[in-house]
Amino acid sequence: MSPDTSSTRPSNAQLADKTLNKKVDALLAKMTLEEKVGQLVQFSSGAPTGPGTCRQGYDSMIEAGQVGALLNVADPKKANAFQRIAVEKSRLHIPLLYGFDVIHGYRTVFPVPLGMASSFDPPLVEATARMAAQEASADGIRWVFSPMVDIARDARWGRIIEGSGESPYLGSAMARAYVQGYQGTSLSNPDSVAACVKHFAAYGAVVAGRDYNAVDMSDIMLRQVYLPPYQAAIDAGAATVMSSFNSLNSVPATADPYTLTTILRKEWDFNGFVVSDWGAVGELIAHGIALDDATAAQKAISAGLDMDMESGAYHARLVSLVRTNTVPESTVDEAVRRVLRVKNALGLFDHPYVNENVTPYQATAAKRMLARRAAEESIVLLQNRATEGQPKLLPIGTHVKTIALIGPLADAPGEMLGSWGGQGNPADAISLRAALEQRMKANGGQLLYAEGTQILTQSETGFDTAKQAAQKADLVVVALGEDAPAMTGEAASRAHLDLPGNQEQLLKTIVAVGKPVVLVVFSGRPLVLNWAAQHVPAIMEAWYPGIEAGPALANILFGNTNPSGKLPVSFPRAVGQEPLYLSQFPTGRPAAGVDLSHPPTDGVEKYVSRYIDVRNSPLYPFGHGLSYTEFSYSPVTLNKNSIPLAQIMSAPNHGTAQPVIQAATTVRNTGAVAGTEIAQLYIQIRGASVEEPVRVLEGFQRVTLQPGESKHILFPLSFNELSFINVKSQRVVEPADYTVFVGGSSTATQSAKFQIVH
Ligand code: BGC
Repeated sequence: MSPDTSSTRPSNAQLADKTLNKKVDALLAKMTLEEKVGQLVQFSSGAPTGPGTCRQGYDSMIEAGQVGALLNVADPKKANAFQRIAVEKSRLHIPLLYGFDVIHGYRTVFPVPLGMASSFDPPLVEATARMAAQEASADGIRWVFSPMVDIARDARWGRIIEGSGESPYLGSAMARAYVQGYQGTSLSNPDSVAACVKHFAAYGAVVAGRDYNAVDMSDIMLRQVYLPPYQAAIDAGAATVMSSFNSLNSVPATADPYTLTTILRKEWDFNGFVVSDWGAVGELIAHGIALDDATAAQKAISAGLDMDMESGAYHARLVSLVRTNTVPESTVDEAVRRVLRVKNALGLFDHPYVNENVTPYQATAAKRMLARRAAEESIVLLQNRATEGQPKLLPIGTHVKTIALIGPLADAPGEMLGSWGGQGNPADAISLRAALEQRMKANGGQLLYAEGTQILTQSETGFDTAKQAAQKADLVVVALGEDAPAMTGEAASRAHLDLPGNQEQLLKTIVAVGKPVVLVVFSGRPLVLNWAAQHVPAIMEAWYPGIEAGPALANILFGNTNPSGKLPVSFPRAVGQEPLYLSQFPTGRPAAGVDLSHPPTDGVEKYVSRYIDVRNSPLYPFGHGLSYTEFSYSPVTLNKNSIPLAQIMSAPNHGTAQPVIQAATTVRNTGAVAGTEIAQLYIQIRGASVEEPVRVLEGFQRVTLQPGESKHILFPLSFNELSFINVKSQRVVEPADYTVFVGGSSTATQSAKFQIVH
């Protein structure tokens, strides 16, 4: 546990503090309407991150006070040049705010967020975000479009890579960690950056996993599953929010007063500002709720959307909307106040410039050390079977003198940076090939390398060479997966979730050689790995591990590091199972206990909630991940069997984080090597007024144990963990039966029961 430093962290309340914001009020009083609108306008200057040609010639607009923020400027000289115009030439000298997509590192690239979530290690995530903030702020960037906290339960959606997966509990823990890392101890520190929690709201639930598609869901689902990570980020002090591209229950999020005002401002008391996603104000026309950009601007600002990123609708229309009394000036004032408060909190009025004479970036030992640790903790060992009397295949033993490394991801440093690689440089990334070559040389062995195939091709011309390499080797490592820039991230939804191109064919060819095979998968989403799961003894999910990909993987393959990552998303057996996630509802005809491996034959098997051609369960479940050691769990104990409802409901705020009951277990390392286990706690509620999921993650702890060592661990449970949303959209506890499960994955079997009673 990291020490509680919450009192020294920037808070949402500070953004509304009247004394701290005297300067803002004084400034607002002097501003013309045009200058006010200027503060609500953001344009891109640099490599565009969305459709459309970016404007040019910002100098005169900045001088006229028509631009409040820019994005995609990643050069201190350029940042200072624009800033000089804003601060020295514009009438009121208001500094610009620079935003950038710093998603998993800026120059030092860490694992993609889905990989970081696999670490189940919030302090580690915080440390990576801190480093990213330091590097980005050195380039003049004081605002990052991160964290992306959209709960994603559909592996078809390309942007699943950008978030922390399917669980609101894990997602909230990660959301807090990112915000704390970015914003540091004070927003005014020159190396702090304002976080931007995105994409608000429920973007991860787009129909059929197709990017930018609509979202339609109940308020219970919204509040129970999708909203908690955004709220956690705001409670941690996130200074800004980005609205999402999707519509939510028929209202585009960019112009949704329910999410932007009722929930965000009124319920959560958010005092920062909201920026649209790229061009999204203008997209209200395509959504069909505006026939022109004036109506689009009017609907967005009235809903609570403060800043227009890139669409130009505020720039073009907002002044006249106010002049014609279509939008009250007080609405614009409120938005401007919010933007200026964030600029003020960042200290931009006092320190608008950045040092241009910085030493060029170096991936120093300290940076690499953090990147390697993050990569190691993000890698998930999916399976590691023993074959024909042999011990488990991994870690690789000393008898292995020749390794064949095969596959299109084996020597692809650029791919290791994943999507949204910030200002990362492929030259800083170490591939698996480079790391294994060095390792084998040091061991007196040799590495044979063959690409085998490309990521997206049907050509088999490389198969023979790959086969020959495999024949000469004691062991084969096959590195397969998706092409990060083309197949993951934004605008990269897939209807097929298998290994792309003919990679599975290559794998079959190599397995047929008969040598022990380890499969390393690089992907931005869960893939369907059925064939591999049956025929390849050892499989690792590496995601995209960042600049230290190769050394981290080598450490794990050889057992210098014991893997500890756990899946933050369920891996399907078939695309047709998607959206696939642990916390499904039980239904009135649960399929539990039915062997689904055969077509249903009798009435009992037929009339249950199931598919006739695939099992309901995932191939690899949420929370799953193996180690080179084994852990045992003692039976779960509770410090009480029942809790009176009144004890919880009568406490101020229902006692929110005050523990009302505690689960305990002893975790023991029963194997031969030291290892880290991520002990997980799941809750099932039965007997409440609404149907509750079969299991929900409500706690986890990292425990590092030497062989034979054990540790007694406690999971305190408070209103936060025990409550749920009722039909009135209220977060409540009710008299109900609770079962807690504790173990090393979501299939944990150790359980204990208690009740909440009248
Ligand atoms: C993405 C955002 C990103 C923005 C700015 C959009 O296309 O959806 O996540 O922050 O571009 O680059």
